[in-house]
Amino acid sequence: MAKDTLRLDKAVCHNFDVPRSYAAKIIKNGLVEVDGEVISDPSAKISICAQIVIDGNEVSASDGFKKRVFMLNKPNGYVCADKDNNNPIVINIFSDIPKFTTMHCVGRLDIDTTGLLLVTDDGDLNHKISSPKMEVTKTYHVVTKDKIVEKDIELFSRGLKHPKERVKYKPALLEIFADNEALVTVTEGRFHEVKRLFECVNNEVIELKRLYIGSLKLDPELEEGEYIELDDSDIEKIFIPYKKVSS
Ligand code: URA
Repeated sequence: MAKDTLRLDKAVCHNFDVPRSYAAKIIKNGLVEVDGEVISDPSAKISICAQIVIDGNEVSASDGFKKRVFMLNKPNGYVCADKDNNNPIVINIFSDIPKFTTMHCVGRLDIDTTGLLLVTDDGDLNHKISSPKMEVTKTYHVVTKDKIVEKDIELFSRGLKHPKERVKYKPALLEIFADNEALVTVTEGRFHEVKRLFECVNNEVIELKRLYIGSLKLDPELEEGEYIELDDSDIEKIFIPYKKVSS
């Protein structure tokens, strides 16, 4: 099949979020128009530019195949998992958008971490952002129990070793701006990384919010639980570091 055509039943499934068998049935029943003509063969090849109309709803055939990337301000209490028996899951926040169950979180934030979380159905992009090789920077606003001291800047920048981890953390950038508040930028995405970095210097994180991925900033207009769709220029920013983490 040429790349600029696709099967009508597949185009209907993807655009109208229905099972293939249902798509075949409505096509055979003459309920699907393509560029103004009824087509009743589910295997008919249509152009990716064709307009499909079902019950007055018109879409462009290729729209349903477009990958989507959303920026969410993750609320406290939600988990980044496909299933959880005890807590609400992030993906269900997207239940109003078509095919929301095909989307996944890019990396994970802890249940009590808020802020910038990417959610996408683009598996390749998800993999690229999460790949350790890409060293995408993640920047968090941290509130701690005890005072953050100047000496921690040096310790973070050298790379710390947590007793529960076999391997040292890569260098992290610590920018202190109040006694108990700082920005922390890391290039790994290890389990509880920021909380454990502070444990290494005998402190404790009491609030954690992610503000940046690369130089893509959490939209300050987004309330917790709100999201927006990103475009290509936003996605480019992910791969531009917020700041240089180590020399
Ligand atoms: N580091 C943490 O400790 N928790 C997160 O949710 C993200 C980074």
